[in-house]
Order: sequence, then structure tokens, then C-alpha cells
Amino acid sequence: MRLKNKVAIITGAGSGIGRGAALAFAREGAKVLVADWSEAGGQETVKLIKKQKGSAMFVKVDVSKAADAESMVKQCLTAYKRVDILFNNAGIVKMGTLHETAEADWDQVINVNLKGVFLCSKAVLPQMLKQGKGKIVNTASIAGLVGFDQIGPYCASKGGIIALTREMAVEYASKKINVNCIAPGIIKTAMTKDMLNDPAVTAGFAASTPYPRLGEPEDIALAAVYLASNESDFVTGIVLAVDGGWVAK
Ligand SMILES: NC(=O)c1ccc[n+]([C@@H]2O[C@H](COP(=O)([O-])OP(=O)(O)OC[C@H]3O[C@@H](n4cnc5c(N)ncnc54)[C@H](O)[C@@H]3O)[C@@H](O)[C@H]2O)c1
Repeated sequence: MRLKNKVAIITGAGSGIGRGAALAFAREGAKVLVADWSEAGGQETVKLIKKQKGSAMFVKVDVSKAADAESMVKQCLTAYKRVDILFNNAGIVKMGTLHETAEADWDQVINVNLKGVFLCSKAVLPQMLKQGKGKIVNTASIAGLVGFDQIGPYCASKGGIIALTREMAVEYASKKINVNCIAPGIIKTAMTKDMLNDPAVTAGFAASTPYPRLGEPEDIALAAVYLASNESDFVTGIVLAVDGGWVAK
């Protein structure tokens, strides 16, 4: 088992990529704190982990709220006594032309996607510093690496995550805290469901993805397991594109 006896906090674990990662981490022996603002989604993930004989607990969290992030780490320490891994994965998207984007929508996307990474990392870092080791994995996106139509705040938030990942990697490397991010391509989850229901959009995505299929949550989960495990101790500050070749094209 690649994450045996590790304790992992995964945000956005109530659905899609986060749920896939929670199941994969648990299979590899980690105790998983399933953090999500959806109670129903989070509880379902815990149920699925317990069904495969893993350990998990749910904490309702809005990652854009400092008090929630702090309480999440406190509850993790109470239950599991340590935190080895933080997978900052919660995210939202809002579509529309930039000149018609409401300021409130800009703020919400940046607050959840980018500020959430800051707040959850800030809450967890003192404990990782105390433990003398830690792994932080952030979910960015290929939208932080190349341009996309009509998702301005999302692209800005993901580009920000990539920059923050590099900053944190440099800042905490001497403390043996690794910080990396994953840039998923198009992954079949609730976030992309409506888009993928449109055959023209799906065909466009497929045409931009050299590998002959779109992504599944498991593709990202397996990359996250690697970056959360001791196998990647000498890897820090990277952007791992898991995108079927989208950004290589
Ligand atoms: N699906 C894709 O194609 C794709 C591509 C690139 C990046 N991503 C990124 O992957 C991550 C996961 O997305 P997904 O595709 O699994 O989507 P999803 O909608 O299936 O899952 C997102 C989860 O995050 C939770 N969440 C949202 N805001 C939250 C908040 N403020 N606090 C706590 N939880 C919150 C949701 O309740 C949901 O359970 C996101 O960061 C997303 O931007 C997805």
C-alpha cells in the first residue's frame, strides 16, 4: 500500500475527481477526511470508502472560509492525530464572456478555487511543519496553462494555483513539505456533464485530445496518489498535466 498509515484531507471529495481520489487514497491505506460543502456528496463518498473497508470521515467545509478551513484541520487532528496529505481539489466554474461576468461571480470563483487553496494550506501547514514532512497537491487545470473560451475567472484562478504551487514549493522544500499541482484535461464529472451532453462540444474536446478518449476521475486520482506518496519525495513545484496530450499539441 502506497499511503499506508497516512492521513489525508481531500477537499471537494463529495464528487468527481475528489471522490475518485478519496477512494484511491483509502485503497492505498490512507485515512481520509472527506471535505466538501455538499453534505450528501461527502457522506456518500464516506459510505463508498467504508464499503471497501477503508477509514474515512466527513467534514462540511466551505474552503473559501478561513474558519471552516481551521475547523477542518482541528477535526482531523482530533480524530486522526496527524495530517500527512492535503489535496486541495474543491473547485467551481462559471461560464460567460468576460465583459458580461458579474463581479460577484469573479469573486466567488477566485475565492473558492484560489483563496481556498491558500486558506486550507495555511490551516494545515503548522501541523506539517511540526511533523517535519508533508504533501500538498493542488488541482489546477489545463485552463491555467492555455487559453479557453468564456471561463475567464476560472482560467485566472487556475493560473494562480500554478503560481502559488511554485511559490509554496520553494518556500517549504527545506522543511520536507512538497507542493505540486495537477492540471487535468477534460474529465467526465458533474462539472463537465452539461458540456459533454452537447455532441458538438464533446467532438471539439476529443479533437483537442490526442489520446483517443476523454479523462476519468481515476486518471487524476492515480496522479494524486503518486504526488501524495513517498515515491515523489524529490518532486516539488511541478505542474503534472494529466490531459491525454492536450497541452503538448
Ligand atoms: N472535470 C474537469 O474536466 C476538470 C478539468 C480540470 C480541472 N478540474 C478541477 O478539478 C476539481 C474537481 O472538479 P470535478 O470535475 O471533480 O467537479 P465536481 O463538480 O464533480 O466536484 C467538485 C466538488 O467540489 C465541491 N465544492 C465546490 N465548492 C466548494 C467549496 N467552496 N467548499 C467545499 N467544497 C466545494 C463540490 O460540492 C463538489 O463535490 C476542481 O478544482 C476543478 O476545477 C476539473
